[in-house]
Amino acid sequence: MKEVLLKVRGLKKYFPVLSGLFRRQVGSVKAVDGIDFTIHSGEVLGMVGESGCGKSTAGRAAIRLIEPTAGHVTFLGQDLLTLSKQQMKEMRKKVQIVFQDPYASLNPRKTVRESIGEALLYHGLVSNKQEQTERVAEILHQIGLQPDVMNRYPHQFSGGQQQRICIGRAIALNPRLIVCDEAVSALDVSVQAQILNLLAELKEKLGLSYLFISHDLSIVRHICDRVVVLYLGKVMESASAEELFSNPKHPYTQALLSAVPKSHPHEKKTRIMLKGEIPSALNPPSGCPFRTRCPYAQPICAETPPVKIVTDKKTGGQDHTYHCILD
Ligand SMILES: Nc1ncnc2c1ncn2[C@@H]1O[C@H](COP(=O)(O)OP(=O)(O)OP(=O)(O)O)[C@@H](O)[C@H]1O
Ligand SMILES: [Mg+2]
Repeated sequence: MKEVLLKVRGLKKYFPVLSGLFRRQVGSVKAVDGIDFTIHSGEVLGMVGESGCGKSTAGRAAIRLIEPTAGHVTFLGQDLLTLSKQQMKEMRKKVQIVFQDPYASLNPRKTVRESIGEALLYHGLVSNKQEQTERVAEILHQIGLQPDVMNRYPHQFSGGQQQRICIGRAIALNPRLIVCDEAVSALDVSVQAQILNLLAELKEKLGLSYLFISHDLSIVRHICDRVVVLYLGKVMESASAEELFSNPKHPYTQALLSAVPKSHPHEKKTRIMLKGEIPSALNPPSGCPFRTRCPYAQPICAETPPVKIVTDKKTGGQDHTYHCILD
């Protein structure tokens, strides 16, 4: 069994809703409401779900970029949520994040050398400018850019090249895990493929793992080993990518997959149309949050639906888990 890198249990992130003259708290947005997932070394875990279901919040809270409301997170066996500021600084080297909009993630006044190289100096991985330049040149080579672009500014690059720079900044500190939050969603399709190839290549060369947050199920199917499906801050189903895409168990996963365009004109596919809108995360339905839109909902779904676990032998005993009364 592979080494456990990130283990998340019962993770919650509630955002307070303030109102009135005195900004009193009148409720909370349950963006992430008690989710579990595990990432093993060398694994790509996909996180999917509709817009607003809590993917970005889950990714950020899991690596403590925002403070979780509750839950347990361990990274390489170390409790991440009790680490001091100094210990967290050390941990930051091992866990990095790449965002959707590369231009917004880069400081427009900093050259590529500064953007990629400043963390190297800050964390003491290089001791002077000369070493910094050498290491930045090495990183540029790894991300498919020429070393002579080092003194250019972000606006002098295309979107794909800017995302390469963001990836370069993420790998500079030799991390173990990178959270890719819709990292290719803003790019055009041909550039998406290049960036995905780069991520796959770096994963092999540098022994990386990814938490790959995306709403694009075709990409997730292509690059992820396992997938977690979120709906209104809760996990509906988690399984190996192969199992999830060939045999989705939860009605929400089935509906989500039915919305993926056909890959072949002769492919038989019926779109499952869901009734109504996604309920507000301010006041989510009790029990299974999907029950108000589920075509198979029963009264018992208003209580906590049982967790069903099927051992998936193909993936070395990792389970296919879903929260539903249906079989
Ligand atoms: N800082 C915040 N303050 C209050 N509410 C927030 C905050 N950040 C996120 N939310 C709310 O939390 C919920 C989850 O948001 P999140 O950004 O995690 O969704 P997402 O799944 O990443 O969506 P998308 O696919 O559009 O990126 C949403 O209802 C959102 O309005
Ligand atoms: Mg998001």
